[in-house]
Amino acid sequence: MVRRIILSVLAAAVIAACGTTSPRTTEDFNFDWQFQLGDDAAWSDASFDDSGWRSLHLPHDWSIEGEFSPNHPAGTNGGALPGGIGWYRKHFKTPDSGRAFVEFDGVYLNSTVYVNGKKAAERPYGYSSFNVELTDFLNPVGQDNVIAVRVDHSKQPSGRWYTGSGIYRNVRLVLTGNARIDYNGVWVTTPEISDERAGVLVKTDINAPEGAVCSVSHRILDADGRTVAKGSDGVLMTIATPHRWDIDDPYLYTVETSLEKDGKVIDRVTTRIGIRETAWDVDHGFFLNGRQVKINGACLHHDLGCIGTAMHRRALQRQLEILSAAGFNAIRTSHNIPAPELLELCDEMGLMVLDEAFDKWRGSRGGAGYGPYFDEWNTRDLTDWVRRDRNHPSVIIWSIGNEIGEQSARTPEQRIANEELSRHLADVVRANDPTRPVTCGCNGPDKDNCVYTSGALDVIGLNYRAYTYDSLRVWFAGKPILGTETVSAQNSRGIYYQPSTGIRVAGWSPWAGVPKPTEEELAGQIPNECTAYDNCRAIWDCTTTHEGSWIPIRDREWVAGGFIWTGFDYLGEPTAFGWPSRSSYFGIVDLAGFPKDPYYMYQSEWTDRTMIHLLPHWNWTEGEKIDVWAYYNNADEVELFLNGKSLGRTSKTRDCLHAIWPEVVFEPGRIEVVSYKDGKEVARDFRETAGDPVALKLTADRSTINADGYDLSFVTVEAVDAQGREVPTAGQMLEFKVSGKGELFGVDNGDAADTLCLKGNRMQLFSGKALAVVRSVKGEKGSAVLTVNSELGEKSITIKTK
Ligand code: GAL
Repeated sequence: MVRRIILSVLAAAVIAACGTTSPRTTEDFNFDWQFQLGDDAAWSDASFDDSGWRSLHLPHDWSIEGEFSPNHPAGTNGGALPGGIGWYRKHFKTPDSGRAFVEFDGVYLNSTVYVNGKKAAERPYGYSSFNVELTDFLNPVGQDNVIAVRVDHSKQPSGRWYTGSGIYRNVRLVLTGNARIDYNGVWVTTPEISDERAGVLVKTDINAPEGAVCSVSHRILDADGRTVAKGSDGVLMTIATPHRWDIDDPYLYTVETSLEKDGKVIDRVTTRIGIRETAWDVDHGFFLNGRQVKINGACLHHDLGCIGTAMHRRALQRQLEILSAAGFNAIRTSHNIPAPELLELCDEMGLMVLDEAFDKWRGSRGGAGYGPYFDEWNTRDLTDWVRRDRNHPSVIIWSIGNEIGEQSARTPEQRIANEELSRHLADVVRANDPTRPVTCGCNGPDKDNCVYTSGALDVIGLNYRAYTYDSLRVWFAGKPILGTETVSAQNSRGIYYQPSTGIRVAGWSPWAGVPKPTEEELAGQIPNECTAYDNCRAIWDCTTTHEGSWIPIRDREWVAGGFIWTGFDYLGEPTAFGWPSRSSYFGIVDLAGFPKDPYYMYQSEWTDRTMIHLLPHWNWTEGEKIDVWAYYNNADEVELFLNGKSLGRTSKTRDCLHAIWPEVVFEPGRIEVVSYKDGKEVARDFRETAGDPVALKLTADRSTINADGYDLSFVTVEAVDAQGREVPTAGQMLEFKVSGKGELFGVDNGDAADTLCLKGNRMQLFSGKALAVVRSVKGEKGSAVLTVNSELGEKSITIKTK
């Protein structure tokens, strides 16, 4: 019999029951899976012959491999890609260990796990991580077994954005002895922090058969591997002069937890931690390590552009690097439990995280997602989520939902029920982690909002509607306020509608009673495209521009910060356009990872590094009147030169965060902006009129990658003229091929309305750019050659794999 003990007593050695002496091993379980779309109950049987199925390695998203079509039930909001039912099977030999588990970081959606034909587990929520014990289903040691996973994504739409389908996150095989540390069983808190000392408390859940005596102990290692503290479970350990985790210095310690019997280690796990203090203040916002820090955040959905939702650490790292470079210091995991890698990377990179569990509660739009499972599963999903994520220093706040229907109530009874539900969810979170506040992304900013009035939230989260920050502060006096979601401006990279003054509304459809935009607002718009100037907002009236959303947060010290919608474009939700649009326009970085111009507004406002960015490009028709903008920092004024002739000096203001020279009459040549501080030049940026494209240029973000089957190189393709200048309007069709030790893993161009398959081998340039992703092959060292063909000729680039 197995019993579960929570070790929280203050004792020198924790006494528990334990059994065998096998140490833990954790193996990558991603390789050698067989995959088949379709459904047949016989596919769970160990004896079924799956040799004709496709062999692949995880993480895998089958939806991204499909063709875009408006007829897929997910609709354009779901990314216009297919769902369906898919099965994965893997053969493996029974290991010689006490117990065997498979850890799934996430399977989208409604997964059922069979081991040798018997059902071992199921998990409806596609964003939850879960652990499946195999032990009792396995054949004798050394014999063959089959694990089969049925993934049912046939009911669609299952979300309001592209969700992906399949075993899209990592999978591990974990072998332990009979006595073991539980899955996510180590919980580290730092109840005392000062410059002189940090008190670290570790509580461990173990699972062990009745019987012998064993103990749990911990060792804390610094980043150089030196032991800085030792102690027993539940006993405060002290680190002298702790090195804090901070956004500028993300220092990490490691806690090594050992389960011992008779002086022998029988299980061991390591947990990375950071020592940091956070505080939320009603009048002054958010504090990190005693320092006031504005939370400058971005909402991110979980897709990784052309590779879909298949978790690849490098793809996510690239997204975070791009956002960090513009001064973002926080990520909101909108609107679901993230991949563990997101938190690991944020820990390492000094990004703070608003960790969010759900979009909607019972009433998930579309009705085919988690909604029907919510009542039965919410406690379990929330518990597992907090237990998994609570040791990450990057996580500063939990969010129990986004824009949920239960904010409003038609009857007093419904109000009571909604308030109770809000409190229940927040209580589950607090029961598993009382050290961080709980919020919710609310879009009903009135004083009767059930989620607010329930008292469940520590921090009032508000989506958009900056004009109600002041009222919220009065209605919910005593609670800090956070812009859980802001902006929703829309832009297409490299597209510039003239004039840039006045606000435009992106697209328009008779949407939820939104008044039709005026002729002026729609002037010059092309279907399925937005301008890249920051003067284009979404169709609903509570959104504004990037500048218009940042200024009210900047000007209210007590608003802790905000999370823009969104850092990157994502598949699905091409509001307010229909087919052929199939991905969003909201990102300040497009789906391929190329920044749009508003990206530089944030960089100018949020970073100290001197920068200047000029827009638009300089390929127009002679005589056209073009508005020229510049984002800059660390300077008093900027001067514009057209072919060496000054067009005057100007500067940004507190209310207008870009410099503008309206209606510059285009003449070909060079447009250049220079910034000055105290009369001295600080920085300059220019654009030149490019001639006809004559060749391709390929640039890899990394020219050497690991031959592990996971690592990626992102190659940018541009067209250049005879002088080697990039041609910003080029749109040539490209054909891609990878030979040697790599595979073509995705292609894209950032055009939200391009209908070419993102996993195919063709893509056209959009606003002069395209992207190809090359993935290494496990164990294949040498080089991969990417060749791109077009009417401009052929160009190759070599990526080394080591
Ligand atoms: C918000 C919502 C997001 C996204 C966004 C689009 O209201 O929370 O998930 O739909 O609108 O502007």
